[in-house]
This record gives sequence, C-alpha cells and structure tokens, in this order.
Amino acid sequence: MMTSIKATGRPTYPRRKRHFDARACDQHVCGKYRDCVAYGHRHEQGANESERHAEADDPCLPAIGGHRPPVAPGVLPCEPMLKQSDKVGDVMMTQPRFDGKVVIVTGAAGGMGLGYALHLAKLGADVGIFDKDLDAGKRNSEYDADSVADAIKALGRRVVAVQADLSNRAEAQSAVEKVARELGPIDTIVNNAGGAITPADRSYATNSPDDDIELLIKVNFLSAVYCCQAAVPLMTTPGGAIVNIITFGAFAGDSHGKYAVYSAAKAALLTYTRHLAVELGPVGIRANCIAPGLIHTPRVAAAAAARGMGTNDQTSGIPLRRFGKVDDMVGAVEFLGSDMSAYITGECIRVTGGLGLISL
Ligand SMILES: NC(=O)c1ccc[n+]([C@@H]2O[C@H](COP(=O)([O-])OP(=O)(O)OC[C@H]3O[C@@H](n4cnc5c(N)ncnc54)[C@H](O)[C@@H]3O)[C@@H](O)[C@H]2O)c1
Repeated sequence: MMTSIKATGRPTYPRRKRHFDARACDQHVCGKYRDCVAYGHRHEQGANESERHAEADDPCLPAIGGHRPPVAPGVLPCEPMLKQSDKVGDVMMTQPRFDGKVVIVTGAAGGMGLGYALHLAKLGADVGIFDKDLDAGKRNSEYDADSVADAIKALGRRVVAVQADLSNRAEAQSAVEKVARELGPIDTIVNNAGGAITPADRSYATNSPDDDIELLIKVNFLSAVYCCQAAVPLMTTPGGAIVNIITFGAFAGDSHGKYAVYSAAKAALLTYTRHLAVELGPVGIRANCIAPGLIHTPRVAAAAAARGMGTNDQTSGIPLRRFGKVDDMVGAVEFLGSDMSAYITGECIRVTGGLGLISL
C-alpha cells in the first residue's frame, strides 16, 4: 500500500492496521513504537531520512518515557487526538464494540480473567491471554474446551496464549511483544493477574513477613506496571485503553485489618493508573481501574471458609445481598476497555454490589 504526501507536506497513511513487526523498527529513532511500522513502510518506499523522521521530531508531540508517542496511521499528530465525530450519536457503534480489536487479558487462565477474555472475544476481539499457569482454570473445570485458547478459537477469534510470570519484566515484555507481532497493535489491555495469594493469618499490617510483602507487590503491582510499560508503545493511538484491576480493599480495609499489603499494592496500582492517565491522555490512550468487591470466582469460593473472606454471613454487609459473579464483572471491562467510555480516564469503577456503603 502506498504512502501519500498531501499538499501540506505531511505524509498520510492508510487507516488499515498493519501487521506489527518489531524487527522493522530497528532503524528508527525510537526503535520500538508502533509508528515504526509506518516508518518501516516508508523505508520500503525509499523515503529520505528527513521525511522519515519529520513526525518524530514534531514539537507538538509530548514525549512519553523518553520516547516520542506512537502515531496511528492516518492521524496527524497536531490534529485533535480524540476527534471522532461532530454528530451526536455517532459514537454509539452499530457493530460489536471489539470487532477486529486486539485485546490483552492477563491472568486469563481462570476466574475473572477467563471471563473477560471470553466476553471480549464474543464481542469480536482477537485476544492475547497471559498467565503463569495457563491450565489453572482447566483443573477447576471452569470451561469445557481443551484450553482457554481453544475456547477463544471456537468463537472464531484469533488468540495468542503465553505462559509467563508477569512479575518478571522480561517475561512481561516478551509476552506483550508477541501479541503485537502476531495480532497487531494493541487496542486494550486488561491487567487482571494478581490476588491475595499469601496466607490470611499473616496478612495484617503488623505481621506480614518480607517474603509475602515482596510477592504481593510483585504480583499485584509490578506485573501491571511491566505490562503497561511494554504495551503503551505498541498501542493504538488515539483510542487505546488500559484497564487495571484493583480491589475494593484499596478503599476500605477488612474489618480485622487483614490483606493489608495486598490492598496497599492495589492502591499503588490505582495511583499509578491515574499517572498513566495524565501522561497518556494527550496521545489518546486512556487508563482506568476496576475495583471488584467480593466476587465468587472458583478460587475465592473454594478458599472462603479458610480465609474468612466471602463467607455466607458476609452478604449482610452488601446492599445487593449477594456475592458477585464473574458475569457481573465483564460489563465494566467492556465499558472501560472500549470507546463507550471515550471521555473517561483516571477513574475507578467499583463493582461491589454496594460493599462499603454500610457503615457498621
Ligand atoms: N475474586 C475476588 O473477590 C476479587 C476481589 C477483588 C479483587 N480481585 C482481583 O481480581 C483479579 C482476578 O481475581 P480472581 O479471583 O479471578 O483470581 P484467580 O486466582 O482466579 O485468577 C488470577 C489469575 O492470575 C494468574 N496470575 C497470578 N499471578 C500471576 C503472575 N505473576 N503472572 C501471570 N499470571 C499470574 C493466576 O495464575 C490466575 O490464573 C486479581 O487481580 C484479584 O486481586 C479479586
């Protein structure tokens, strides 16, 4: 496909998404951004050096993390980034909101992550699924297919499944790059991997041991930071959406003070998300959080009695008088991960059935 140069002297690109090839970016100034696909294309077209770098040097572009932000093909950097339509009603789409979009869901082997991945695939997304144990949900009989990847393929969507410990920066980076390389630029990333995975009886603010503190911060905070840092340069701009999953515990503690470090790690993710929103707003990437309440995923339901969290007597503290289900969560992810929430960034939606509204 040919690149054209209009009378303004600015090159424009076809709006169609290109296959991402990180290797094509080696020659370019930033070496990794998605706009390098366009630049790579221009290398093929034989454009000269000054044309190739004209947009990268544009002073209208704010720098992100020391790099220039990505530029979507067909969008000139000085145009209003979120210009979509002047007509009321045009934002509501008639096609599935994720049709042809590329979505990453972390911690997608089971529980809520599995629900998000399947829901977004049903809405038309191609999905990258990451988990440190891709068979976790299969062992709990959470789906019938041989694997989550097969369940997504059965919906007619493309899938890239990566088994990776996302609290390791290199593994997170390589997983995200694999998705961009095989599926294309990333439209939405849902950072869901995590959990209050250390023993509850030593999860108080005063008795959490070093190993637990380190693990909880790595799994619940750093894994999301690493995935965001890897994904942002490869995201669609404008229009990319980051959805970070935290917990209601970031706002209100367990009545005995348990899960202190877990909640603090998720609160850190909330603050980090607000900073992402500020930094990335100018290039049209939004960042928001979802705080689940007590959601009866298979893991939580199985451990409820032992952990004293999600036991039946606790529903009286929930205005809707029941625990949440995975299906209760997917709508919020669909909303924050799509253009339905095009003017919302830096926010957190609590999906809790009203947990926390009752004072005693
Ligand atoms: N279930 C709840 O009641 C509840 C409440 C508030 C917040 N949350 C949060 O929602 C998210 C999902 O919770 P869930 O109940 O579905 O949990 P889950 O244990 O069923 O699923 C979490 C998945 O994340 C994966 N994971 C964990 N650490 C990882 C790592 N380092 N690298 C890659 N994958 C990793 C696990 O293998 C697992 O498949 C978590 O972040 C959790 O903290 C859950």
